[in-house]
Amino acid sequence: MKQAGTPCIPGLITLLFLGPFCRSDDRLSPAKPLSAGDTIVSKGGDFALGFFSPDSSNASLYLGIWYHNMPGRTVVWTANRNDPIAAASSPTLAITNSSDLVLSDSQGRTPWAVKNNITGVGVAAVLLDTGNFVLLSPNGTSIWQSFDHPTDTILPGTRISLSEKAHAVRLLIAWKGPIDPSNGDFSVGLDPSSNLQLVIWNRTAPYIRLSMLSDASVSGGILYQNTIFYESIVGTRDGFYYEFSVSGGSQYARLMLDYMGVLRILSWNNHSSWTTAASRPASSCEPYASCGPFGYCDNIGAAATCRCLDGFEPAGLNISGGCRRTKTLKCGKRSHFVTLPKMKLPDKFLHVLNTSFDECTTECSNNCSCTAYAYTNLSSNGAMAFQSRCLLWTEDLVDTGKYGNYDENLYLRLANSPVRNNSKLVKIVLPTMACVLILTCLLVGIFKYRASKPKRTEIHNGGMLGYLSSSNEIGGEHVDFPFVSFRDIATATDNFSESKKIGSGGFGKVYKGILQGDTEVAIKRLSRGSGQGIEEFKNEIILIAKLQHRNLVRLLGCCISGDERLLIYEYLPNRSLDAFLCDDTRQSVLDWPTRFEIIKGVARGLLYLHQDSRLTIIHRDLKPSNILLDSEMAPKISDFGMARIFCGNKQEAKTTRVVGTYGYMSPEYVMGGAFSVKSDTYSFGVLLLEIISGLKITSPQLVENFVGLTTYAWRLWEDGKATDLVHSSFAESCSPHEVLRCIHVGLLCVQDRPDDRPLMSSVTFMLENENALLPAPKQPAYFALQNFEAEKSRENSVNTVSITTLEGR
Ligand SMILES: *[C@@H]1O[C@H](CO)[C@@H](O)[C@H](O)[C@H]1NC(C)=O
Ligand SMILES: *[C@@H]1O[C@H](CO)[C@@H](O)[C@H](O)[C@H]1NC(C)=O
Ligand SMILES: *[C@@H]1O[C@H](CO)[C@@H](O)[C@H](O)[C@H]1NC(C)=O
Ligand SMILES: *[C@@H]1O[C@H](CO)[C@@H](O)[C@H](O)[C@H]1NC(C)=O
Ligand SMILES: *[C@@H]1O[C@H](CO)[C@@H](O)[C@H](O)[C@H]1NC(C)=O
Ligand SMILES: *[C@@H]1O[C@H](CO)[C@@H](O)[C@H](O)[C@H]1NC(C)=O
Ligand SMILES: *[C@@H]1O[C@H](CO)[C@@H](O)[C@H](O)[C@H]1NC(C)=O
Ligand SMILES: *[C@@H]1O[C@H](CO)[C@@H](O)[C@H](O)[C@H]1NC(C)=O
Ligand SMILES: *[C@@H]1O[C@H](CO)[C@@H](O)[C@H](O)[C@H]1NC(C)=O
Ligand SMILES: *[C@@H]1O[C@H](CO)[C@@H](O)[C@H](O)[C@H]1NC(C)=O
Repeated sequence: MKQAGTPCIPGLITLLFLGPFCRSDDRLSPAKPLSAGDTIVSKGGDFALGFFSPDSSNASLYLGIWYHNMPGRTVVWTANRNDPIAAASSPTLAITNSSDLVLSDSQGRTPWAVKNNITGVGVAAVLLDTGNFVLLSPNGTSIWQSFDHPTDTILPGTRISLSEKAHAVRLLIAWKGPIDPSNGDFSVGLDPSSNLQLVIWNRTAPYIRLSMLSDASVSGGILYQNTIFYESIVGTRDGFYYEFSVSGGSQYARLMLDYMGVLRILSWNNHSSWTTAASRPASSCEPYASCGPFGYCDNIGAAATCRCLDGFEPAGLNISGGCRRTKTLKCGKRSHFVTLPKMKLPDKFLHVLNTSFDECTTECSNNCSCTAYAYTNLSSNGAMAFQSRCLLWTEDLVDTGKYGNYDENLYLRLANSPVRNNSKLVKIVLPTMACVLILTCLLVGIFKYRASKPKRTEIHNGGMLGYLSSSNEIGGEHVDFPFVSFRDIATATDNFSESKKIGSGGFGKVYKGILQGDTEVAIKRLSRGSGQGIEEFKNEIILIAKLQHRNLVRLLGCCISGDERLLIYEYLPNRSLDAFLCDDTRQSVLDWPTRFEIIKGVARGLLYLHQDSRLTIIHRDLKPSNILLDSEMAPKISDFGMARIFCGNKQEAKTTRVVGTYGYMSPEYVMGGAFSVKSDTYSFGVLLLEIISGLKITSPQLVENFVGLTTYAWRLWEDGKATDLVHSSFAESCSPHEVLRCIHVGLLCVQDRPDDRPLMSSVTFMLENENALLPAPKQPAYFALQNFEAEKSRENSVNTVSITTLEGR
């Protein structure tokens, strides 16, 4: 059994419920101002708010928030950063009679205040365990919160607007120096001239162009030391928001812009220090325009380096002076466009709204001064007032880069080579040629990229650290967990062609694909109507990324792109168990020792899910099509999409939405929606009986005789003819002793009452120990029979029961 207090995943669910507080030291009330030396400590003891002096030789005081349980003082928020108070003038933070939150000193100065128009008693300011300092109205709603006004740090759970009334805001402003909290030179915010790109600024000059807003909602994750850091830019009708969240092992995490202009995601690694999970600049040539005009910073490969764009050569002796055309472009003379994939697009673009790709191309090719263009389709959920983003460049191309994880094409204008220039056919052939050329470049580009791409990538488009090159090792040990771009997956599966489809179910289709040149993978494309939202999807990622067991399918990567959710699994050549159980010729491939190993392997995988992993996971949809077989016919459990996370000893729950596959679901789950580890035990029992009998629980011959598989097996058992259950194909290879023990265990698993069914720990013990004493099984309920008749009528109430369609073969 699980002990109480087993950790669940923190950060996944942020409780914003501010119930009645029993202790008052996490809050400021009108009656209880805060003065120098006092602190307010959040309920769980994670954060403290008080006055601090960063410079020990200077007695100026700042009001701030820092981590409470940590050596040293890591300040995450400062109220009066530009207006400190001398310690001698005894500062106080108080809620005034007019419900304002005011920082004042004995000389009557108020360096900082939050004004509001709420009258009456009951206003309080509370420091939450998230590090958010919230001013609450008498009815408990938030009037003001420090998360909306970050200084140089963003904490998990923060959601901040990138602009206000169409004006770009500075999200973060760095400290001036290591011990000077006042506004420094560096800041992060949208580029106000376009409102399209996030930039780290050095005063008013761009220092690092972080990312370009493109789609209505992009997100990416970085897995580092068992923790996933999510960054999302979410488009809404009101504009774009930046969100930062964390799930998994790290106790504390923050995103911070330091006084030298480095933007970092930091993780508290439990060894009394902060380590960097990701950072920008990610390479030495990343700072703005480092590679000069028409040069680009190539981040693919071991060491980032400046290179000239295709068709260009270094302008001076070395590349730092930029590049010039190898063949001059003359207005009126013919030219063509080459496609450069995986580009961080150059700066200083012209944004043309609402065009098609063709119009964008024409727009650029018809204007002599246009040197390059780029085009992106945007999803039309109202986040932007335009459906597409056509960018044109008419000046030098500066601050271009190439990154494995970034997915935009730059179409660059070059003069035609002499060979094609003189041809009379050019007029007709050129457009075709250009198409072919673009395609070829694209393919060659992709191919080259594949070939040179290191095995590990971390992030796809998204967030502020989203351009990180895959060779970035700043964070030390990284875990292999790629976020693959949708385009790569579409290419790998021939645009999800039917010929690549290897399976389908209620939750989506599975395709076979080849990624990174040679790795065969299975790609699960979740159906849009599956109801698997971003949270469930993240759950599945987190769960599977954490779980490693030889009887579980390994998750290799994932992709979130707009509405699309895809999971990339290891590809198992022998497909699923049901392909064998449903095919008479393939039945014979599975002799008894193989079947016995499959049964024991599934039991061990399930035991791991239930008990041995840090979390209690109930699979809820165990069935032959979810048992994949590797080349040695070792079983691997797949499809954790419906698994639920349980905290501590809470092993039973009720759900109003029954998800699973008819026949494998336990009676109490189908009837009442109650599920527990014992529901999986039931499914395992059915699976075990299927493996031995070679019959499906839904086999037509069983239905015709009005006998469910479980009942059929039990009757044979009662009549002392249990070995008749054994499928003829392996009857010879079987050991009657082992088979009987298996059937016995199977019957124990399908017993009607959950309490009668054994835990998986007992199941594995009984399967692996010949001498274990087994209790007598009770008769299983006539459940299978009843529900077969009920199935049709049940289809009318799909809102409560969703039955996974049986997998096509
Ligand atoms: C202490 O710091 C404040 C704010 O930076 C500054 O105005 C003041 O001159 C400093 N005092 C000393 C003695 O350095
Ligand atoms: C605030 O109210 C209290 C009692 O209601 C009163 O004693 C105090 O003088 C008031 N303070 C101000 C600044 O009005
Ligand atoms: C508070 O009320 C005053 C007028 O009574 C108004 O000018 C001000 O904008 C209000 N402030 C807020 C935050 O609503
Ligand atoms: C709570 O109070 C605030 C201001 O006092 C008001 O705007 C809001 O509507 C109230 N909310 C509820 C749920 O009563
Ligand atoms: C920031 O800009 C200043 C000039 O305003 C320059 O001297 C400094 O080197 C820049 N810092 C970085 C890190 O580029
Ligand atoms: C962190 O350290 C504590 C005590 O040293 C230990 O109990 C805990 O398991 C550690 N957690 C991680 C994630 O390493
Ligand atoms: C590159 O050229 C510039 C001047 O154009 C010079 O200052 C710099 O030292 C050169 N770098 C190398 C590596 O040669
Ligand atoms: C070409 O583009 C430039 C810059 O946008 C613009 O000023 C110029 O009018 C355009 N020329 C034509 C012929 O459209
Ligand atoms: C953009 O979207 C439109 C409609 O959704 C589609 O017809 C067009 O082919 C797309 N263009 C590109 C370049 O993806
Ligand atoms: C772009 O097109 C959409 C509909 O196609 C329209 O609603 C929107 O106003 C257009 N935006 C601009 C800037 O023309």
